[in-house]
Amino acid sequence: MKNVCIVGYGAIGPVHAKALEVVEHAKLYAVCDIDAGKRALCKEKYDVLEYDDFDIMLQNKDIDTVHICTPHYLHFEMIKKALAAGKDVVVEKPVTMTREEFETLQGLQGVERVCVVLQNRLNPCVQKLKEILESGELGAVKAAKGILTWHRDKAYYEGGAWRGKWATEGGGALINQAVHTLDYFCYLIGDVKNVKANMSNYSLEGVIEVEDTVTAYLELEDGVKGIFFATNAYAENSAPFFEVSFEKGTARYMDKKLWVNGTLLEEDKAPSTGKAYWGNSHTTLLRKYYDEHKYFTVADARETMETVFAMYESALQK
Ligand SMILES: NC(=O)c1ccc[n+]([C@@H]2O[C@H](COP(=O)([O-])OP(=O)(O)OC[C@H]3O[C@@H](n4cnc5c(N)ncnc54)[C@H](O)[C@@H]3O)[C@@H](O)[C@H]2O)c1
Repeated sequence: MKNVCIVGYGAIGPVHAKALEVVEHAKLYAVCDIDAGKRALCKEKYDVLEYDDFDIMLQNKDIDTVHICTPHYLHFEMIKKALAAGKDVVVEKPVTMTREEFETLQGLQGVERVCVVLQNRLNPCVQKLKEILESGELGAVKAAKGILTWHRDKAYYEGGAWRGKWATEGGGALINQAVHTLDYFCYLIGDVKNVKANMSNYSLEGVIEVEDTVTAYLELEDGVKGIFFATNAYAENSAPFFEVSFEKGTARYMDKKLWVNGTLLEEDKAPSTGKAYWGNSHTTLLRKYYDEHKYFTVADARETMETVFAMYESALQK
């Protein structure tokens, strides 16, 4: 049985706590947050130790695994310290905020003990699409496209001082909201060879420093073309759209359903443990990690993270 400490009990921390309720080989043992109100929310529901200081929490030898659910700028330092203290780590996306941090992380001792929360890879439709791709039944892939149109307004950004700033969020719509959709490209389709991206702030000028919209053209392995569009400037959080064009037809993941050549093949039906647009697979991911020892490592996240960084570099060069 692993004793878990959730670090950061804001929006996503409680989703981890809820998922742990049904994990067999782990239990929520402690919460660490600098905000007493957030810690109190956790204490109301669970019998846990409380910490307001990450370094002091790490000294507790009974804590086996820390779940890093804090703002992006804290991920790297917290992973580094947790590994050095001998803890296993579950870290929310993005693994790190910058390319430099990611490169250093890959060389750290114990990096293989980091589980990255890329829960949407485990959505039934994504897993089914992976099966179809691996079977080769639809022939070679010609192209893929991902589209995300979500809504984030002034109130959302004012609700967390770290959001909307290069120094603490590391970007906007891409690194935070659309990273999962981009992850389908990298997880399902493969190597990204080259990236051309543009970024804008259409609807949140004066509110955020970072982009609310990104468009990109990706050159993938074997001449496969990738088209990507993501924005936080829409009026609602629509289900992500992902399409793969094959020699022998088209697979479309839309409205949480997977259609292949017009036939419905799979549906993401599990009830949400958090906001519906986060997807429903945190529980699946944590069950696999603790109960089956299967998880996405830092190496598994590399393609996605390098593509994220390449998109920022391409857009910001202009
Ligand atoms: N996988 C997903 O679908 C998903 C969904 C939402 C958020 N996230 C990710 O989860 C992370 C957190 O996002 P959020 O929306 O919950 O943020 P949030 O701002 O709502 O919560 C962050 C929490 O961290 C706490 N915190 C800040 N500094 C701390 C410190 N030094 N020590 C301990 N606690 C500290 C804050 O008090 C706050 O309670 C981000 O990386 C985000 O991208 C992932």
